[in-house]
Amino acid sequence: MSNALKEYLSFCQNRVERALENRLPSELLLPQKLHQAMRYSVLDGGKRMRPLLAYCTGKTLGIDPEALDGPACAVEFIHVYSLIHDDLPAMDDDDLRRGKPTCHVAFDEATAILAGDALQALAFEVLAHDPTITATAEGRLKMISALAKASGSQGMVGGQAIDLQSVGTKLNLPELENMHIHKTGALIRASVTLATLAKADIDSAVATKLDHYAKCIGLSFQVKDDILDEESDTFTLGKTQGKDRDKDKPTYPALLGMAGAKQKAQELHEKALESLSIFGKEADLLRDLSLYIIQRTH
Ligand code: IPE
Ligand code: IPE
Ligand code: MG
Ligand code: MG
Ligand code: MG
Repeated sequence: MSNALKEYLSFCQNRVERALENRLPSELLLPQKLHQAMRYSVLDGGKRMRPLLAYCTGKTLGIDPEALDGPACAVEFIHVYSLIHDDLPAMDDDDLRRGKPTCHVAFDEATAILAGDALQALAFEVLAHDPTITATAEGRLKMISALAKASGSQGMVGGQAIDLQSVGTKLNLPELENMHIHKTGALIRASVTLATLAKADIDSAVATKLDHYAKCIGLSFQVKDDILDEESDTFTLGKTQGKDRDKDKPTYPALLGMAGAKQKAQELHEKALESLSIFGKEADLLRDLSLYIIQRTH
């Protein structure tokens, strides 16, 4: 990871930790167990890749980070809700997440379902009302609409449905790509979209290039997640290694072999860089982030 990215990453991580903490209901507020579960799953863990992507897009476009705290938190809340539900017994049935027992193990299944539901609602409440968002009412509406589409049946939830119905079957490459673009790519893409919507006078050609970049890294992110599930270890990942193979999940390494999956990740990184060719140094963080996504160890 470049030094510039390392520095900006730690600035954003501190920033988003505070922003998330401030926007979550207190554990003292009723119903306490639900609020404890929400805070347990959101705080203290996670790479915060989606918030980081929103801030790095903002840096490229010259947007004040404060104006992105709301969008960054909204995407992270949806992401954490998706992880809580992804880990449930009815889905991937995992008991370790971010190095801690999963929400349904630490609390109980009903609380985990409700914590996910409540985080989803909170995400939209933040976009609708957060006072730090400087976008116009129309801009906010576009943010809400973009995040709703990326989260729902034509986005993340749709991808999760394909994932679950594909267990044990053999997907071809376009089908696998379609699943990954939805279950993981959609929210990553939304992280960039929300940041572009925070800029009132954005040039549409610039927004299109950034969207193409986001599509490439959204897919490479899940390709790398599949690779790490095979190659890393439980301690480094903070989640149980080898689950995809155990559960006979359709993954890139399963379909293309490990070398093929790695080549795919590299190709997507190169395409992401191509999409940024209209930018100068102001997009270096986004370039570094794309490389980090395919080189990361967890
Ligand atoms: C894991 O996402 C689930 C996927 C969509 C691949 P992350 O790897 O971003 O998980 P955290 O947020 O760092 O825990
Ligand atoms: C999860 O994909 C994607 C979402 C949570 C939407 P995975 O099932 O591969 O994620 P991990 O490996 O459990 O983090
Ligand atoms: Mg899953
Ligand atoms: Mg999973
Ligand atoms: Mg995985």
